[in-house]
Amino acid sequence: VRSVLLTNAAGGIRPDLLPGDFVAITDHLNLIGDNPLRGAGGSERFVDLSEVYGPRLRNGLHEAAAQTPVALKEGVYAAVSGPSYETPAEIRAFDRLGADAVGMSTVPEAIVARQCGLSVAAVSCITNLAAGRSSGNLSHHEVLAIAEQKKAVVAQFLKTFCELYAKK
Ligand code: HPA
Repeated sequence: VRSVLLTNAAGGIRPDLLPGDFVAITDHLNLIGDNPLRGAGGSERFVDLSEVYGPRLRNGLHEAAAQTPVALKEGVYAAVSGPSYETPAEIRAFDRLGADAVGMSTVPEAIVARQCGLSVAAVSCITNLAAGRSSGNLSHHEVLAIAEQKKAVVAQFLKTFCELYAKK
């Protein structure tokens, strides 16, 4: 294995990130409060995260998007532990820290993948506006419903990405 493609559902913080949008992750904020390499021994745990989501696979994502009905945006993903959703105050704080989207996964996987020397690409499906970003409350049902609606198009997008990757 040389590369890994991570996918997740995320809440949109940046105003142009709307339910149903797809975002190529350009960088992350680890707000989980833990690190998967904590407790590991040896100097291999001091992993460089200067470029987790490199340009080669990210360009591949854009190429695949151009061939499918996906308008791919880019953004910084903030990972939190969950499992509750956030408060509006937390979302305002994450916005100021530079987060465009928020979710509960992907970052630990990306860190371990980089430790293993893998190239990493990651895509978020925006399933909801983050807490306080819409007039209504946030519902897990809405998150699942948008993910369900996007199933076919995301399958086409990821399949195209893999085919392009296999050709390179
Ligand atoms: N917050 C955290 N995780 C999520 C969200 C959210 O708004 N939507 C989907 N996963």
